[in-house]
Amino acid sequence: MLVGGEGTRLRPLTYGTPKPMVPIVNVPFLARTMERLFTAGIRDVILAAGYMPQAIVDYLGDGSRLGMKVTYAIEDTPLGTAGALKNVEPHITGPFFVLNGDILTSLDLPAMREYHECKGGIGALHLIRVDDPSPFGCVVHDANGKVSAFIEKPPKGEEPTNEINAGTYLLEREILDFIPAGRKVSIEHETFPQVIAAGKALYAYTTDDYWLDLGRPEQYLAAHRDILSGTMPLLVELGITGEGREALLGHPGVVPPVHAAGDVVVDASARVGPNVVLGSGCSIGAGAVIRESVLWDRVSVGSGAVIEQAILASRVTVGPKAQIGAGSVVGHDFSIEPGAMIEPASRLGSPG
Ligand code: GDD
Ligand code: MG
Repeated sequence: MLVGGEGTRLRPLTYGTPKPMVPIVNVPFLARTMERLFTAGIRDVILAAGYMPQAIVDYLGDGSRLGMKVTYAIEDTPLGTAGALKNVEPHITGPFFVLNGDILTSLDLPAMREYHECKGGIGALHLIRVDDPSPFGCVVHDANGKVSAFIEKPPKGEEPTNEINAGTYLLEREILDFIPAGRKVSIEHETFPQVIAAGKALYAYTTDDYWLDLGRPEQYLAAHRDILSGTMPLLVELGITGEGREALLGHPGVVPPVHAAGDVVVDASARVGPNVVLGSGCSIGAGAVIRESVLWDRVSVGSGAVIEQAILASRVTVGPKAQIGAGSVVGHDFSIEPGAMIEPASRLGSPG
């Protein structure tokens, strides 16, 4: 699993939290992915990390708590998406899955494995069809699925296809021979094009699974909406859910779906929902309104504050009557003054 990116597009959330540890409905995203791997029968996971690795190591340890074996390969300087694989070559003994660490998907990994075993070749790439392929890797293939071109992030209007690299590969060990050691190498810009030019067979595995790259705040909120509504199957129950639901059931101002972790306190006159996630220890004051938003742990919202389509990281304080414009992202420990009017799409918070 490639988890070495800095999560630049998610700042300020990723100043204090590496992208894989960003919570998805109150559980670190990495834990959600590990669970998906476990369900697929995978027990051996190598994490290629670099940015804030300690937070990841502290959380997962050796993986035994999950019944899995986790090995870490920490890059002092980023090796790129292929360099990261070359770096773990000694650990790789056979065909292996590669996962971009920021993808929320319902992809069936065992089915992809069957596809690869049936097709043969040096590897299979999971593809998804999207309306706007330009920010992704575009993958061209023939009717038999054989890939003829991999074009990373083509300019708008020059996309050869709407089938994009969905960030999950199943590769044979032989692909490592195409990656030079000891320098930064991009699998998208260098390795895949070289493998194709060498005439090796890469196959496209296109599915219509739920799929989202969590790399930007709008997508982070969309992921929550989709999980809470059941569009992305992840929660066992829908409606008013989570350890803290007792505080919300029967509350007149709560509009499902809402998920609340433990120890939340919601004033009887507050309005919460739809599509709201409250982290543990959040407190919501009298008359406050929260819609379409994700609050991490211990966020305190003053009376009469209004929060819509926003992401508030851990321990943010929102003063009474403050209004947070749609699309805003507030970093850890930030305090918003009483009565403040925060512009839409603001990013508040700093690395410290
Ligand atoms: N170990 C390591 N080292 N991991 C890295 C490095 C590195 O130097 N650089 C990036 N990663 C990890 C990131 O943490 C992330 O999980 C994954 O590799 C992909 O990097 P992103 O920065 O998220 O790339 P992207 O979203 O712009 O594009 C990639 O994903 C798209 C699908 O979401 C590409 O693979 C595209 O082709 C693809 O369409
Ligand atoms: Mg990404």
